[in-house]
Amino acid sequence: MDFTGRDFLQILDFSSEELRYMLEVAKIFKNYKKTGQSHKYFPDKNIVLLFEKTSTRTRCSFEVAGYDLGMGVTYLDPAGSQMGHKESIADTAQVLAKLYDGIEYRGFAQKTVDELAKYADVPVWNGLTDYCHPTQALADFLTIEEHFGNLDGLTVAYLGDTRNNVANSLMAMSAKMGVNYIACGPEALKPDTKLLEQCQAVAAENDSSITVTSDLQALAETADVIYTDVWLSMGEDKAKWGERIEQLKPYQVTMEIMNLAKPTTVFMHPLPSFHNLETSVGRDIHEKYGLSELEVTNEVFTSERSLVFEEAENRMHTIKTVMYLTLKAKE
Ligand code: CP
Ligand code: NVA
Repeated sequence: MDFTGRDFLQILDFSSEELRYMLEVAKIFKNYKKTGQSHKYFPDKNIVLLFEKTSTRTRCSFEVAGYDLGMGVTYLDPAGSQMGHKESIADTAQVLAKLYDGIEYRGFAQKTVDELAKYADVPVWNGLTDYCHPTQALADFLTIEEHFGNLDGLTVAYLGDTRNNVANSLMAMSAKMGVNYIACGPEALKPDTKLLEQCQAVAAENDSSITVTSDLQALAETADVIYTDVWLSMGEDKAKWGERIEQLKPYQVTMEIMNLAKPTTVFMHPLPSFHNLETSVGRDIHEKYGLSELEVTNEVFTSERSLVFEEAENRMHTIKTVMYLTLKAKE
């Protein structure tokens, strides 16, 4: 399978077979890392990481993966380049493509990463936009497959803001991998109709289903994975916290919900998470709204059923895979 020169902008751009292949390559890279096998395949390549939003996992994963592959890595933070304020996306893309072999972008509009890809003649990788978070979904599915041994007949249930970037990519990846997906949240935060219908059509081709519900009981009985994410994403108006808390409090992942599910059901979250008062945002919200845990309780987050740190580790192996495959010289 040849991915050379391709961009990684969203899950739906790839076939089920291509995504399956990526998971297999990620397992090989994970094994190399665990056994200390050097894989500095690209000593002559350099990549640039453009971040218009903050990050821990995505930035560090691209950096470590870049170094592991032997590459030079430049990180540009929101204030560190001319892009957007003094230079257009199109010009930035063409300049960076002259200097670098690949460009990662994290930011706001999906159209920015699409435009970078249009004007840069090197691979562009989406490290999160308001619309989707495709490298997260790859890591999530590697984690799910490692945990259960295979993906056959599994159901992933997403609770909360079911129309956010992480949910969009998880839904698309579920459809592509033939895994059932349930979006469970309030009517006001349900998935975008166009994306939902696209994913439902893909899921049908792969003998799985995508459903939208507000019924927690039904979901808990069938879910193998209970997944959630923050209730307010980066870039959203902080004034919306009160409304979101009201809308999403019933969908907080509690041990009561986990116990409605099968004993084998696991918990997942892309992180960062507000599960205690150890963050300044968590403390501010506690002061204002009285909640000491938001989208997931600390009990669930720290339980044996929580796969969150395995999931975080797998960001690096899957991001390395995306870079390796798209930068790879044709054989
Ligand atoms: N999950 C994730 O993308 O984390 P960061 O925001 O830390 O990159
Ligand atoms: N939905 C979250 C994901 C962070 C990794 C956000 O966009 O802030």
